[in-house]
Amino acid sequence: MSVQTNIAERIMVALDYPDAAAAQKLLESLRGIPCYMKVGMQLFYSAGPQFVSSLKEQGYKVFLDVKMHDIPNTVKGGSESVTRLGVDMFNVHAAGGKQMMEAALEGVDKALAGGGAAEANRPIVIAVTQLTSTSQAVMNEEIGLPGTVEDAVQRYAQLAQSAGLQGVVASPLEVTRIKAVCGSGFVTVTPGIRPAGAAIGDQSRVMTPAEAFAQGTDYVVIGRPITAAEDPRGALEAIIQSVE
Ligand code: C5P
Repeated sequence: MSVQTNIAERIMVALDYPDAAAAQKLLESLRGIPCYMKVGMQLFYSAGPQFVSSLKEQGYKVFLDVKMHDIPNTVKGGSESVTRLGVDMFNVHAAGGKQMMEAALEGVDKALAGGGAAEANRPIVIAVTQLTSTSQAVMNEEIGLPGTVEDAVQRYAQLAQSAGLQGVVASPLEVTRIKAVCGSGFVTVTPGIRPAGAAIGDQSRVMTPAEAFAQGTDYVVIGRPITAAEDPRGALEAIIQSVE
């Protein structure tokens, strides 16, 4: 496998589109580049399981970013359903608590035991820690969690690990600390990525793809720098080159 292939497989393209047709248009322009595809709530709520199946048929790895957060029994059912869909990774909120995260893993086991998917297709389950859009003031005053965002992220990451989850979504700025406390094998998926010179948009703390990989992150999530580019394929190829 070439270095380029390895890097492409660690780039998750955020398919933040309103419908399957718009997302498929981007897929056509990226055809042949083996990146990971991230389907979030906008696309999943409109195009649903069918679109995920079509991504799998096209050979992509799929991260279903639906951030489940509900009572354990409901999350268990949700994870059972998405495991049957054949996604490679999905996430739940660490704020749902340890029992809820354990229920997510039980849902995966149930789907695999029920013959809905092969054991080889066991998805990686990761936790959302503190959303990167949450400032310390919002966390302390609105949500009511004391301390720094970094402390909350660390606590959530350790809780996720104790529940048996395999990693977290976090800011690239938090990767070093998470790997230090949870170990290098604990997966980090990091949004908030902007190639040098790209528009920051509503992200606040950003890093370039090369900087994020240098921090030791496993996957970077990149949306608008690719999806809003005039030449998405050129943008993705330039990102891959910038990391090599
Ligand atoms: O367009 P952009 O590169 O900012 O897209 C980032 C993607 O990562 C979006 O799909 C967003 O929902 C997701 N995300 C994020 N911050 C988090 C969790 C997910 O930006 N903390």
